[in-house]
Amino acid sequence: MFDFLKNIIPKSVVSSRGASVLGIDIGSSAIKVVQLRKKDGKAVLETYGALALGPYAGLEVGQATNLDQVKIAQALVDIIREAKVTTKDCAIAIPLSASLVRTITLPRVSEKDLATMVPIEARKYIPVPIGEVSLDWWVIPSQEFESETEDDTSRAAKIDVLIAAIHNETVEKYKLISQSVGLAPSFYEIELFSTVRSVLRREMAPTLVIDIGAGATKVSLVERGVLKRSHHINRGSQDITLAIARSFGVSIKQAEDMKRRYGTLGKTEDSAIRELVELTSEFIFSQAAQVAIAYERQQNKTIKKVFLTGGGALLKDMVSDASDKLEIEVVKGHPFSIVEAPVFLHDILDQAGPEFAVAIGLALRKLEELE
Ligand SMILES: Nc1ncnc2c1ncn2[C@@H]1O[C@H](COP(=O)(O)OP(=O)(O)OP(=O)(O)O)[C@@H](O)[C@H]1O
Ligand SMILES: [Mg+2]
Repeated sequence: MFDFLKNIIPKSVVSSRGASVLGIDIGSSAIKVVQLRKKDGKAVLETYGALALGPYAGLEVGQATNLDQVKIAQALVDIIREAKVTTKDCAIAIPLSASLVRTITLPRVSEKDLATMVPIEARKYIPVPIGEVSLDWWVIPSQEFESETEDDTSRAAKIDVLIAAIHNETVEKYKLISQSVGLAPSFYEIELFSTVRSVLRREMAPTLVIDIGAGATKVSLVERGVLKRSHHINRGSQDITLAIARSFGVSIKQAEDMKRRYGTLGKTEDSAIRELVELTSEFIFSQAAQVAIAYERQQNKTIKKVFLTGGGALLKDMVSDASDKLEIEVVKGHPFSIVEAPVFLHDILDQAGPEFAVAIGLALRKLEELE
């Protein structure tokens, strides 16, 4: 069940070295945690771990779940114990599927008027009563201004605002779970923002970050550090597992194992799996391409680079499939490269990194809070 755990620094050392913080990513198929602390201005990795949720739902490792609060709490207790987490000070990610992220264009009005106008405008995109969501918004800096109109005078009269809404029920659910296991989260963040923080460094040009999870894929389009577009694709890496199980007539468990060993299975099996991988990757990357192309046309800009994250990015062909379909340079995200870790872990962290992007991003913001 604990497919990937490491504890690096003994507890006694951790508690004597100042504030530690924990990022918690409760994904559909696995919980990921990363504990960091600050030393000499740098983020130091203390411990991290991933725990498959499938078994808590009577499913297999790698499968997406929809667990109740009690089961999630139980899994959290288990990962905290197994990863030897030593702090309660944490931040928790909110799935994109439980939130709404959008850029809207509004007339250039005063801050005060904007505060009235944004919720009214946001209502158009939020399918539930506005009172049921927590709404956050930021004006995109004017040099970042974008608009669908080509006319410069009308541009100057408008501003772009990024709105982010989270269903209150979701936050309440995570609050109750945290209380029940003795965690003290200081903020909740929509997963896209955490991923972008841990994966992107100094990229100024428009960049895509694609998080291939178990049940879904999340696309973020970022320019100069600002999230410009986001998109939720209802397909993820478990669709490949399910296709393998169907096509080979094997159990989900066997199919998951074949998927992870894909590329080393021998010619016949590998080429059969290749076709199945292609079906899912084609769907995912053609949708991601639509996001990219729409932005490029509208803004008359070029997307320079794509970062893949999430457990789905670990599959052999994902990087090459993405670069073929998107016709852009594609690399895996390496979120652990931003933290200090013992040299003997570098290779492991490099390989496992994409899965932990959300949890690392949360912990990094939490460290900033301490400053
Ligand atoms: N080494 C690997 N090779 C291939 N696929 C892998 C590997 N490790 C994990 N995966 C796949 O990655 C998926 C899990 O990725 P991740 O942990 O990012 O998802 P999640 O966060 O739980 O899901 P979501 O983001 O959709 O809620 C699973 O479908 C799993 O099969
Ligand atoms: Mg995820």
